[in-house]
Amino acid sequence: MPHIAIYPGTFDPLTNGHYDMILRAGRMVDHLIVAISTNPQKDPVFSLDERVAIVKEVCKGLPNVEVDSFKGLLVEYAKKRSVDRLVRGLRAYSDFEYEFQMALTNRKLAPDIETLFMMPKEEYSYISSSMVRQIAQMGGPVDRFAPGCVVEALKRKY
Ligand code: COA
Repeated sequence: MPHIAIYPGTFDPLTNGHYDMILRAGRMVDHLIVAISTNPQKDPVFSLDERVAIVKEVCKGLPNVEVDSFKGLLVEYAKKRSVDRLVRGLRAYSDFEYEFQMALTNRKLAPDIETLFMMPKEEYSYISSSMVRQIAQMGGPVDRFAPGCVVEALKRKY
């Protein structure tokens, strides 16, 4: 059986830290699905279609990485795709509480689905999508925080 995992997120927009996670997770499995959704508590700057297009562009050189989107519960999407492992990144201790709560909630909803945690490269541990958005919005340089096509998309957006 091939090892398949889902790396879910809002990716508004994808940062170098997310991309580092995709590379790391992609090396651990045969097939990685980057699944883009919307956190109901967030109001994304990029539409779902825009985020899918950007992440597809970033990942186009990675043959075992698929980019998809979903609506509704993550565990329902995982079941639909017959995938039983989710990958999430832990950047700093401050991520732990939120990730812990989400992983255990998902386990309650679907006991057969496991969440695996990986740490992105330490130099990316402080990057967040909202910080990148804020810098771009104020006309600052974001090229050291996000891949080229994300930088271009941010320039077009603001
Ligand atoms: N590098 C850089 N930044 C990272 C990162 C990494 N490796 N990992 C996380 N982040 C940042 C993101 O940039 C984002 O920052 P922001 O808050 O400033 O925008 C933040 O951490 C978390 O974003 P993300 O990883 O995209 O996750 P999310 O919390 O927005 O979305 C979902 C998580 C989509 C997986 C979750 O909301 C979900 O499952 N939704 C479907 C509904 C559902 O099933 N709900 C029940 C869940 S218990």
